[in-house]
Amino acid sequence: MSNTEKTVAILGNGVVGTTLAKGFAALGYQVIFGTRDVRSAKTRAALDAVPGARAASFAEASSASGIAVLAVPWSGLEAAIFTAGPDNLAGKLVIDPSNPLDFAGEVPQLAIPATDSAGELVQRLLPESQVVKAFNIVTAAHMVQPRLADGTPDMLIAGNDAGAKARVAQILKGFGWRAPIDVGPIGASRLLESLAMLWVIYGVRNDHWTHAFSVLGQKR
Ligand SMILES: NC(=O)c1ccc[n+]([C@@H]2O[C@H](COP(=O)([O-])OP(=O)(O)OC[C@H]3O[C@@H](n4cnc5c(N)ncnc54)[C@H](OP(=O)(O)O)[C@@H]3O)[C@@H](O)[C@H]2O)c1
Repeated sequence: MSNTEKTVAILGNGVVGTTLAKGFAALGYQVIFGTRDVRSAKTRAALDAVPGARAASFAEASSASGIAVLAVPWSGLEAAIFTAGPDNLAGKLVIDPSNPLDFAGEVPQLAIPATDSAGELVQRLLPESQVVKAFNIVTAAHMVQPRLADGTPDMLIAGNDAGAKARVAQILKGFGWRAPIDVGPIGASRLLESLAMLWVIYGVRNDHWTHAFSVLGQKR
């Protein structure tokens, strides 16, 4: 495996970016945080949380890495991709944990109609990349080494490229997940983003934010 393949660009240094960065670092990946400001307090906090990581511009992080993670809010997703540069991500695995959420009202809503999804948008903007929707259906706290008292959660993934999904399955295994459930091509992101919305609704109605989904009676 080349150095680039074992290097991951974490685009976004918030809670998801920092959590996944820690997971990748524990698997032996070199982590490069892509950030709008390498000197910000937020970037420093992310670097402190992930020993060995460094910070760079979105473009530099993307070009130096074999994998990129789009850990940015819906409002900044398109801008982050253009700043990273589609050419810098061409031929690479791009993991999309984002959810297109609109926080304007009392309860968050999906920001786009069910005839499209953030996952599909990302794949359209990055036609030369292998985009895999993953991690969007759980809270950041459970993205790595998920532990729930009453059962084993499942990760559901979607993407057009079987090889890219197999790589994500390997990463998930390293993060302590059982084999992910592949729900199909990137268009199935519509289902996964709606499932995330269901997760949010459960959270709002119960004021409880640590739940996760599990599929029982799976084919073995
Ligand atoms: N939080 C969760 O538990 C969770 C679970 C599942 C999925 N997700 C999804 O994961 C994604 C990241 O969530 P998060 O909770 O980590 O968000 P967050 O804590 O708000 O972090 C967002 C990061 O994106 C950067 N950012 C914000 N606007 C940007 C823009 N216009 N261009 C480039 N970068 C921008 C921020 O950088 P600055 O420091 O410069 O502001 C920050 O580093 C979201 O799409 C969210 O829906 C979150």
